[in-house]
Amino acid sequence: MHRRSLPAAALSKHLPNYTCDILVIGSGAAGLTAAINASAQNSSIIVITKEKLGEGITSHAQGGISAVMDPKDNFEGHINDTLLAGAGLCDETAVETLVTEGPDRIKDLINWGMPFDKRGSVLSLTREGGHRHNRILHAEGDGTGRVLARTLAKKARNCSGITVMEHIMCVSLLSKDKRGFGVLALDTVTGQFKRIYSKVTIMATGGTGQVFRETTNPVGATGDGYAMAVGSKMTLRDMEFAQFHPTALYLAGAPRFLISEAVRGEGAVLVNASGKAFMQGVHELADLAPRDIVARAIIQEMANEGSTNVYLDLSNISQETIRHRFPGILHICSTFGLDIIKDRIPVSPCAHYLMGGIETDLNGATSIEGVFACGEAARTGVHGANRLASNSLLEALVFGKRASDAALQNLKYASSSIVEDGFFTEGKEPENFNVIDAQNSIKSLMWKSCGIIRTQPALEKSLGILQKWEGYINTLGFNHRHGLELQSLLTTCCEMVQAATVRLDSIGAHHIEEINE
Ligand code: FAD
Ligand code: SIN
Repeated sequence: MHRRSLPAAALSKHLPNYTCDILVIGSGAAGLTAAINASAQNSSIIVITKEKLGEGITSHAQGGISAVMDPKDNFEGHINDTLLAGAGLCDETAVETLVTEGPDRIKDLINWGMPFDKRGSVLSLTREGGHRHNRILHAEGDGTGRVLARTLAKKARNCSGITVMEHIMCVSLLSKDKRGFGVLALDTVTGQFKRIYSKVTIMATGGTGQVFRETTNPVGATGDGYAMAVGSKMTLRDMEFAQFHPTALYLAGAPRFLISEAVRGEGAVLVNASGKAFMQGVHELADLAPRDIVARAIIQEMANEGSTNVYLDLSNISQETIRHRFPGILHICSTFGLDIIKDRIPVSPCAHYLMGGIETDLNGATSIEGVFACGEAARTGVHGANRLASNSLLEALVFGKRASDAALQNLKYASSSIVEDGFFTEGKEPENFNVIDAQNSIKSLMWKSCGIIRTQPALEKSLGILQKWEGYINTLGFNHRHGLELQSLLTTCCEMVQAATVRLDSIGAHHIEEINE
């Protein structure tokens, strides 16, 4: 159904409005890279974020950013590893672009003050799943995302031409005749709706890990960008390809905190409850096989053992390396009584990333003129059926810049006074409605039916249920962030499950189990 409702106040013709040349929705790695790059050309840029500047998935990244920075490494190696992880479904030109432009984007970051970790005067590079060479740059050990977010936020604040609007949640694109003109947004602090008109809009709204019950993603990862894209009839692609990270902390009462793949990159080994390593023989790269393979091997091991989790054994890593490389993981685990210097870490796989998204070309152009997309919101074709570790931040940097370069070439249309895009109807007042309960129901259903192991009957049944829920939840007129996020989540789930029902064979992260009659 996908038509969504809003309270009457949001549909008024007379809302406060703003104008700019370029509107960037999202202040993660992709959005801020785009904004900083565009600001060099004297355009007026508004960056809106529903959170505070620096919050979002980017700030949670741990392992790092992959790029060919070691003279002994080469583009061919990174390209091949990306294609192999993507299980034959990557767009090869996009992968070449990602890999060959990567080092220049890393140099930009260094020029903007990003303090990557070094060994002496040389960049310190580690390895993660699917990589056959050490090519992951990191900062403050496992704090890469936090440091990156801080560096980009500081740079953006100092760029003339960029206005940052925090706690502004975009709820719809304003579009007409397949052309975008800006957005309708909610100020989540005052509760007031407003319109922001732009010549060009760049969607950098991140991913949707919150659709699953078990997730490494922060609460804001509710797929708003995908839902807005559906509302404006933009083309989404590869929505069935959700990536599950093999190792999230599994302890009652603890968040599903990511235990970076870099821990295995430094020598940790996956073991079962009796301490037996089980990845040898599953894949030539053993514990550092691509994520989809490791996640399924863990699920299999848990099923064999009848257990809720497996363990990461760090006994191969020196105390000094643990302290220096993984201060964040050491600290979080310690708050749950776990000393990773001597204790094994209980882990299980969790939803982590979406390979699919808003379909773009190599310059971030979408199927709506004047609207570009980049970062996790976009489907550029670089990840295929399974993303190679630490290629996501790289994608945000490379295609964030490309999207803003292309946006700068498209500043030809004046802002308009379009007030609605036909997506919304006036919503009913929510009565006796429990947003948290609805969210939990959706997340549980998604985890059971569209998780690591899927079956066609479960997917089809789940699609029917989700569409039924969407049929009444999306007719409610929410005027607050959580209700609107719930609606985004639901629309995104429908897209993901629908896409999963259509892909009948297993490939990459989409794993369909045959049911024996
Ligand atoms: P985000 O950083 O999520 O930014 C999205 C922005 O959009 C936010 O500012 C948000 O507030 C805003 N937004 C969303 N919806 C709206 C709306 N409706 N209105 C207004 N604003 C909105 N990848 C790697 O390459 N290396 C890693 O080491 C790594 N580690 C990770 C660790 C964790 C725990 C997780 C969850 C992911 C990790 N990833 C990693 C993946 C990577 O971090 C993300 O894919 C990447 O940061 C996404 O960047 P982005 O700019 O597209 O989105
Ligand atoms: C990690 O540190 O394991 C996450 C890296 C990624 O998602 O690419």
